[in-house]
This record gives sequence, C-alpha cells and structure tokens, in this order.
Amino acid sequence: MSSTAAQTDAPLTDAEVLRIREDFPILHTEVNGHPLVYLDSGATSQRPIAVLDAERDFATTLNSAVHRGAHTLAAEATEAFEDARGALARFVGAEEDEIVWTSNATEAINLVAYAFSNASVGRGGAEAERFRLGAGDEIVTTEMEHHANLIPWQELAARTGATLRVIPLDDDGALRLDELESHITERAKIVAFTHVSNVLGVINPVAALVDRARAVGALVLLDACQSAPHLPLDVKQLDVDFAVLSGHKMLGPTGIGALYGRRELLAAMPPFLTGGSMITTVTTTEAEYLQPPQRFEAGTQRVSQAVALAAAVRYLDEVGMPRIAAHEEILGRRLLAGLAAIDGVRVLGAGIDLPRVGLASFDIPGIHSHDVGQFLDDRGIAVRVGHHCAQPLHRRLGVTSSTRASTYLYSTEAEIDAFLDGVAATIDFFLGGVAATRDIGVRS
Ligand SMILES: Cc1ncc(COP(=O)(O)O)c(C=O)c1O
Repeated sequence: MSSTAAQTDAPLTDAEVLRIREDFPILHTEVNGHPLVYLDSGATSQRPIAVLDAERDFATTLNSAVHRGAHTLAAEATEAFEDARGALARFVGAEEDEIVWTSNATEAINLVAYAFSNASVGRGGAEAERFRLGAGDEIVTTEMEHHANLIPWQELAARTGATLRVIPLDDDGALRLDELESHITERAKIVAFTHVSNVLGVINPVAALVDRARAVGALVLLDACQSAPHLPLDVKQLDVDFAVLSGHKMLGPTGIGALYGRRELLAAMPPFLTGGSMITTVTTTEAEYLQPPQRFEAGTQRVSQAVALAAAVRYLDEVGMPRIAAHEEILGRRLLAGLAAIDGVRVLGAGIDLPRVGLASFDIPGIHSHDVGQFLDDRGIAVRVGHHCAQPLHRRLGVTSSTRASTYLYSTEAEIDAFLDGVAATIDFFLGGVAATRDIGVRS
C-alpha cells in the first residue's frame, strides 16, 4: 500500500482495496478452479508482502538470540525485537514495558489466570493483594466467550475454590446488561470479556462492563482478538487492566501474540513460565526475577515473529484503522442484510442493536454447517464452520454449529456477493428450495 492513503475516517475506496489486494499474494490464487474468496480472516488473516519480507529479512540479516549475546548481530536483533514491542505498544495505546510477548492470545489469558493462583508467594507488594483468590471470591466472564477466555477461568476456579460467574445472554445473543449488577458483585476479583464476539461480530459495550467492575474494585481483562485487527484500539482510553491479542489475526504470523497489562499490575504478578532470560541472579535454591515485561518472557523468544507483527501493525497504521473499520462496517452490513434476505437462513445475533465488525454467523436448519462449508469451498469460498470455539454461545442460541463469514481490509463487496450467491445455491442444492438473493442495496 502506498503512503498516499488519505488520513481520514472515510471508508477505503474500491480502488484502494484493489491496490491493497496486490500486497497479498495468496489472494490471487485459485481454489477448486475458482478465484479464492477468503472470508475466514476471523480465524486467521492473510499476510502482506511487507510482513513476509520482514520475517525473511530478519532471518537473512539479523538472526540471533536476543538480550544475551555480546556480538553485533545479537545487539541488532535485540534492538529489532524491542522496536517491535514499541510498535505494538503504540498501536494499542500502551507503554512499551506494558507489552508482554506471548505465543498467542490463549497463552496471554492463561498467564493472567495463573497469576491469580500463584500469587501467594509473598512478592509484589500491595498490588499483589488484588491477585489473591480463594473461596468466596468470584471470577466473572460471559456466555459469549471464545473457549480461550473461559476455560482458563474454569481451571482457576477449580484450583482456588473461587466461584465462576457467567453473565448471561438474551435470546438474540446480546449480553444481558441488566444482569451486570447481580453478576459483578463486591466479591468479583476479575471480569474477563470479549470486545468483539467471534461468532456474532457485535462490538460489546466495554464502558458498561468496565464501570461496573471499577465500582466493585475488580480488575478487567479485555479479549481484543477480534477488535485489535479491525478497530482503532486504545487500552488506556478503554481503561482496561489487561488486554490480549493474537498476531495471526492482524496480518502477522502465527506463534506471536501479546498481553497488555498496566505497569503496576504486571510488577505485582508472579512469572508464568520460569527459566532462562527472566532472571537477575540465581542460586541453587532461589532466583530473583527481572522486571516486566522480561519477567514473563522465559526462554528463547519468537523474535522474527515479533518483528513481522510490528511490520503488520505498521501496515495497518499506514492504511489507517479508522478507514479499515469504516470499510468493514460497510461489508458487514452488506453481509448481514444479504444473509437476512435469503429464505431459510437464520443469522445468529441478527436482532442485536450494537455496532459490528464484518463478521456474521448463520445456521441453515436442515443443512449441517460442514456441508455448507464444503459446498462453498467447491466454489473457492473459504468460511469457517463448526462451533468456532464458542460452544456455550451456540448452545444458548439453540444450535450446535454455524457457518461464519468474516472480512478484512482486503475483502470486497464482490466477494460478499459471491458468498451470498453461494449460500443461496447451497440451499437450492440441499433443500431444493428457491432461495434467491434479493436486491439488498445497502451501499448507496
Ligand atoms: C475472541 C477470541 N478470543 C481468543 C481467541 C484465541 O486466539 P488464539 O487461538 O490465537 O490464541 C480467538 C481465536 O479465534 C478469538 O476469536
């Protein structure tokens, strides 16, 4: 993408999207004899040449271990690694030492959950009290979470004797905000919830949950996996204590993610993994630890992946997050309206009156989602099928699985239309119905 992109909030123009697509080699491949229509960015996004080059350039010019070597390459690799941390910190509105590299969002959530069950070792001063958890304390999450933001809390409750409270959903799948007071009580120590649902695409009202958590003195962890790639994100403005993200969902490689944590909280937390690279002095009986973030980065780090993720956020910044969000909002509306106009399709969360990203999941009663996915794949259309690691949400909405289409900055209206035609054809094929897409006219 050239740097001539206007720095406005205006949606990307069709010409800009086509130019962006030139940066993504995989988008020009064919699948099953059709041009690839990639609508699975919610699972894993594609990578632009700048990101592929960054990882390769690191490997070919700087590859060495960081924070340890006395030689020039090691010093330059360390600088690149720490520069990458700075780039990600600026991208989410954090300070550099508030970003901990992890292998993905799942690890980042587990790191925080672990701090609560290992905080009794007498370190961390007054802030460490906030991590002491036992019987009578409560952990709060919601019924719409990805399993990554549910199971670590279930395990934490089992280890500590604390109680897990789950904020319920209404029949459409929206969070029951009228249940916040009864579910986030004075006993709550942490409230962990998703910014954007990976099944419904709705953007949750962060402020309402943060306000309630603050009122009872609980910490807040925001799962930003589906928001950081698609929306401008400022962790200070949102006033959350922790936020997690995965690089592979935001144009970066797999194997790299991050935890944002408020400085004083990270300083009070015990390490998650222990070993090399996270200590100051070690005897045979004890060890002293480095300050965060290094305290949480035991062992040899994912350096080329961090450097590539920094290239990804620079790319996103150059295009402009407000413009990406505006583009995907248009695609999301087209997706939702188009699905709603196909007879036989039930869109999950259709009735929720909240802003959304370009992501929608649906059920076609009488056709298993795997058959839908297979039929679309025959046309070169890649979507996600199954429970999307959110079984409780699916159960609440009365389905066992769904089909999910999700967009990104490189997605086009033509791709949405090809997908909608494919869904209508799926119904014709399996159910013999006539499911014509109507003129949806959502973009004037
Ligand atoms: C909302 C949400 N949270 C957490 C995760 C877990 O991400 P990862 O598997 O990269 O750790 C995902 C991945 O799909 C997600 O969508």
